[in-house]
Amino acid sequence: MIIRNGKTTHLIGKSVSYIMHESETGELLHFYFGRRIADRDYSLMTGEWHETLGSGANEFSLEPYPQEYPAYGYTDMRSPAYQIVNRYGNTISRMRVKEYIVHKNSAVQTEGMPCLFKGENNADTLEVVMYDDAIDMEIRLYYIVFEEYDIIARHAVILNRSTDAAKLYSAYSANLELPMGGYDMIYFTGAWAREMNMQRTRIEPGMRYEAENARGISGHHMNPFVMIASRDATEASGEVYGLSLIYSGNHSTVAKTDQLGQLRVQQGINPMQFAWTMMPGESFTTPQSVLCFSSDGFGGISREYHKLYRNNLMRSRWTHRERPILINNWEGTYFDFNEEKLLKIAKRAKEAGIELFVLDDGWFGRRDGDNSSLGDWVPDERKLPNGIKGLAEKINALGMKFGLWFEPEMVSPDSDLYRAHPDWAIHVPQRRGVTARWQYLLDLSRDEVCEYVIEAVSDVLRTANVEYVKWDMNRGMSDMPYPGYAHEYVLGYYRIMDAITSAFPEVLFEGCCSGGGRFDPGVLAYMPQIWASDNSDAVARMKIQYSTSMCYPVSAISTHVTASPNHQNGRITTLKTRADTAYAGTFGYELDITHATDEEMDEIRKQIALRKQIDRLVHEGELHRLASPFEGEYCTWELVSQDKKHAFVFTCKILSVASSRAPRIKLMGLDPDKRYIDKLSGRVYEGDLLMRRGLRVSYAQEDFATEILELEQV
Ligand code: DGJ
Repeated sequence: MIIRNGKTTHLIGKSVSYIMHESETGELLHFYFGRRIADRDYSLMTGEWHETLGSGANEFSLEPYPQEYPAYGYTDMRSPAYQIVNRYGNTISRMRVKEYIVHKNSAVQTEGMPCLFKGENNADTLEVVMYDDAIDMEIRLYYIVFEEYDIIARHAVILNRSTDAAKLYSAYSANLELPMGGYDMIYFTGAWAREMNMQRTRIEPGMRYEAENARGISGHHMNPFVMIASRDATEASGEVYGLSLIYSGNHSTVAKTDQLGQLRVQQGINPMQFAWTMMPGESFTTPQSVLCFSSDGFGGISREYHKLYRNNLMRSRWTHRERPILINNWEGTYFDFNEEKLLKIAKRAKEAGIELFVLDDGWFGRRDGDNSSLGDWVPDERKLPNGIKGLAEKINALGMKFGLWFEPEMVSPDSDLYRAHPDWAIHVPQRRGVTARWQYLLDLSRDEVCEYVIEAVSDVLRTANVEYVKWDMNRGMSDMPYPGYAHEYVLGYYRIMDAITSAFPEVLFEGCCSGGGRFDPGVLAYMPQIWASDNSDAVARMKIQYSTSMCYPVSAISTHVTASPNHQNGRITTLKTRADTAYAGTFGYELDITHATDEEMDEIRKQIALRKQIDRLVHEGELHRLASPFEGEYCTWELVSQDKKHAFVFTCKILSVASSRAPRIKLMGLDPDKRYIDKLSGRVYEGDLLMRRGLRVSYAQEDFATEILELEQV
């Protein structure tokens, strides 16, 4: 709901208020974002502003004011939300409110980029038109508020209304001003095979804190999701703000306290290596930043994003559907396979109850290693004499679905595509192009290159019964031709994703980027699941999945059971530990199942049956994280159905400790007045005891001992 009350505008969500106020001089000031407060005439409180505006030594100063979209250099010297080099060559700008437009029952879209949609929910959009007549530039600020969520989604459109070219140096999507107080910043760093390490740092006065990445993709190194929390915030309590950017390229979230102790936070495209020329009449649209507030700690924030992204971001028909249990051949065979070997794996997988066979890298061109053929999406007849079509038919004849890997944004120097179009690879003409993993990125800023990618992938999908696609991407960007190029690339990527996913709506798409190098809401808009990491070791995955779930729905996290010793870190774990960890995700196997013993095959059959039983919990359950692997020896999470009748609990004692007793686990979200039976052990528990006294688990006396419970109300 949006209430306009004189100079005050109040956006009301499920239990949040977001209030802005226009000063008498036309500045758009920020008043409040937090737990819902009543709608009043807040213009009565404008005295607060007058105390500083125009008083004291300066005739006019914006420096002390919380603002909605601040500029730099015209009395406010703090970090700006945008910078425009105007026709006079300076960056001075003063935007003032011209008009408010309320789009009732509508979620205004960001052009050319994925963003939230209204769906079945009740959403309104506020559009504030701001203008600076000294330079003839306009900024339109958009705020979407949903009746059902505690979120405010923001983006901006900057328009050049002048008769000369103007240049953008930066354009954040959202600017958030928080009152004086102690805050921590929580952000997610990493590397290949070590994604999503949850970090927490105290925001000290004067220092600039930036969670950013400038590698052309959202990146392994920093996720475009940040939380700003009160110092006492925990998983289950305390005030927390979430900022999640629906974007798959260079991003930045900046927090800095000003001289008065107020905190300014901005999120959007990374200004580093960004510049955008706007000719007269042209505009620039920022991606959407989704702000969330919770007074129930990190868990409260996660549950909001999970619901929102499942219902109002992810467009795939598969979003709410049960996903087929898959087997992927990558860690089973790598590049060393032929049709016969694949069919043997598929046959055995079928016997275990697996539903989808996925052929990973190496099926096209002459790709016997990672150094050739990307771009040549034609089956390698040496390995697959019957092509993809013939293989898919044989897999289908076994009663399984067939899925295929692509890495469409790339070209190998050793490929027919590169030989025909060397200029299609991103490069600067003065230098030799730089390969990574022996490959170049295709120049997706060019229409003909995007068309090629769309056609090459579509051609395979049209000619064979491919029901699942793994869309991989295995290098970051370098030698960019000009500043701002990375954004052009992202727009090309979205154009391709939009075309292909709309043309093949029944195909289940999975995103991947050397593991979790592009795990972001922009990708999720098109592909309802993403491979979280190339590190498939269960213990490493506990941390990765734990932090990934801070923002992203469990049903979007792709999880596989792989071989032991693990291929990435050599750790030895039981089949049980590996599957228990993978249940809270899409679930599948990635190993050579022809080596499985009969006992292991039995165990796999039972695992699949259990995963199917809890499928609705993975899709719709509320997630509670109960013990953090970043803080101690235990990792515990719980999924509870909306009606509190069904729950799944996973817990692991990571390293075994002699002479110790495990702490009790206090479950959350159950009905304290009801009894629950654990369907796996047959034990019956009282809800209030499970939640208040806690559950004592006897872990096996060994490292990485996991236990699971499937609770059902009796
Ligand atoms: C990186 C992916 O993350 C892996 O799962 C696998 O598909 C390889 N690429 C194949 O090259």
